[in-house]
Parts: sequence; C-alpha cells; structure tokens
Amino acid sequence: MNELKYSRRSILGATALGLVMTVAPATLSLAQDDEGPLVVFLLPENVTARWESQDKPFFIAAMEREYPGVRVRVENALNDPAKQLSQAEAALVSGAKVLVVTAIDQRGAAVIVEHARREGVPVIAYDRLIQEADLAYYVSVDGHTIGELQGTWLAENTEDGDRIVVINGSPTDDNAHLFEQGYMSVLQPMFDDGSRVLVESVWTPGWDPSKAQEQMEQILTRTDNGVDAVLSANDGMAGGIIAALDAQRLAGEVPVTGLDGTLSSLQLILQGKQSMTVWRSLNDQASKAAAIAAALLRGEEPDASLVEGAPMNNGRVDVPWAKVVPMVITTENMQLEIDDGAVTAEDLCKGMPEVGPCSA
Ligand code: BGC
Repeated sequence: MNELKYSRRSILGATALGLVMTVAPATLSLAQDDEGPLVVFLLPENVTARWESQDKPFFIAAMEREYPGVRVRVENALNDPAKQLSQAEAALVSGAKVLVVTAIDQRGAAVIVEHARREGVPVIAYDRLIQEADLAYYVSVDGHTIGELQGTWLAENTEDGDRIVVINGSPTDDNAHLFEQGYMSVLQPMFDDGSRVLVESVWTPGWDPSKAQEQMEQILTRTDNGVDAVLSANDGMAGGIIAALDAQRLAGEVPVTGLDGTLSSLQLILQGKQSMTVWRSLNDQASKAAAIAAALLRGEEPDASLVEGAPMNNGRVDVPWAKVVPMVITTENMQLEIDDGAVTAEDLCKGMPEVGPCSA
C-alpha cells in the first residue's frame, strides 16, 4: 500500500515538472523505494567555516539516524543567489521530497519556496528566515538574543568614552539584521548618552572576511588607529578584522566579538586576540532540522516538543520554530564545544598556549 502511494506521488511530481514518463509505475516505485527518499540541503557560502565543517556533516549524520536509507544531497551556492535558485530547481527535478534551505537572499529565496510548494515539497528554513513565503518550518537560534549577548559583552568590557567600530554581516541575510537589532539595543543608548562613541557602522556583503578586513584597514587609516573595540557580527569577519589590527600591532589590545565558535576563532581566543564568541550547538540545530525533515518524509507531524515556543512570522505565515540556545564562549567554558563535537581537543590545542581546555 505504501509503495503504491509512493509511486503515485512520484508520478504526480514528475508530471508537474513536465517530465515525460518512460518508466512503468511499478518499476519507478521499486527503484525509488530501494534508493530511499531524497532530502536536499542548500548551504549559502563557504567563506564562513561552520557550513561545510559542521552543519553539513552534522545534518547528514542526523538524517541517517532519523531516517535510515535516506539520500541526502548537500549543495553550496557560494554566496550566489541565482546559483542557489538553480540548485533548488535541480533538486526538485531530481525528486527531492524535502528542501532544507539556508537562504543567501532572505527575499529572493521566496521563489524557491514557491516552486517547491507547487511540487508539494515542504521547505525548512535552516538558520536564516525566508521572508514572505509559505515555509513549513524554521530551525534557528533567536538572532536578537545573539546580538544582545555580543552587545552586552562589549558594553561590559569597554570603558567610558571608548570608540567602537560595528561591522555588520550581509545586508541580504535576515539574521544580520536581527543580530544588529540585538547589539544596537544595548549599544545605541550608550552612543546616545556619550558613554561610548560610534566610530562607524558598516555592512559586509556575503559576510566576506576579506571585505571585513579591508573595511577595518580603511577605518584604522581614516581614524589614525583611533579604535578601542570592534563589534564583529561573526567569527569569519573577526578573523579579517584581527588581521587588520595585527598589522597595526593592535591585536589583543582591542576587544573583538564574534559568533559561531569556529576552530580558528577559538584559537584566536586562546591566543588572546579575539575576546569572545557566541556559540549555539550546530549539532543540536542540525539534529532538530533532521528530525523535522524525517517526520515530513513520513507524512507525520514533527514531535511537538521541537516547536513548542512561539512561531516566527515572516510576513506571510506564522512559521513553527525549532529553537537552539546561544551562549557566550571564552577560554573558561570552551570545553563545552569539545564535549559537543564541534571541535576536537587535538585540533584546537595544536600549537596553542596552555590555557583553558589546552592546559596541561
Ligand atoms: C549565521 C551565522 C554565520 C553567518 C555567515 C548567519 O546567517 O547565523 O552563524 O556566521 O550567517 O555565514
């Protein structure tokens, strides 16, 4: 019975895509059931370490756990929204049953959701919201909270009159705006009352670390190194910013924030060059997305405990939201990331000072 239903759905999907059916339904059904259903995970870029080094392997492993026999394909659009759209279309033509999408363009990606919907394929927005689209689920951290953690840390670790540079993420990423609202909710009142000075606030297309470095170099030149702290919206950019500071022998003197808890940012923290990062378990996040995708493949509702909080409204619908919890990471609690499998102690401590999790 299941097989029959499956083969009918396949035929419907294929016909809707305008494909000519040359295979007898029974053969098709057998072939597809043998192979297992296809889930396609669309990643946004590879200039930020987390996507390829954590989200991808964690998601594949969790999918295999949640739905043995599933086929998982992962594509990376390298910050090109048109490429992401064609990857989504190719996934639908290949018969994907669920799309998991980390959008490059929070508005443009609505077309992906629309095309998928036409084929009866649900879309899970992974990490980044897609605006004005009929999303099935959203799996992410609360971006505003991330920004608040970064802003609060910087407020507490700077002094009266300190000059702060704000380096925001990609203007087309919904998260970049949520983070900004979060840290500005803490910092803007301080800029307004004069207790901190805003040097400049700039946005960084594609979250590109080399662009962040260039922006930081230019700001240091313009201000004659008149910078006391930097709010960097993520770790990749913090790496570029710290390189710019290093060239002026300011790395370690100027506090720099981050986000993601990547291996290289943890090492910069151990070296005293980056001050903190914000981390949420991507293992947890990818596992939640996989549990939802597996339920969708079975035609079931995901476990209610996954989406028990308030939904996220995207201007079109209230999207059920599976949340993960962010926290500040410094040398003191870095061990948490080792315990979670985000990094290994061996990789982390190679050539590092013997502090925190690397103390002998
Ligand atoms: C993610 C961050 C990531 C950034 C750049 C954001 O949407 O939430 O974790 O560092 O994109 O890829």
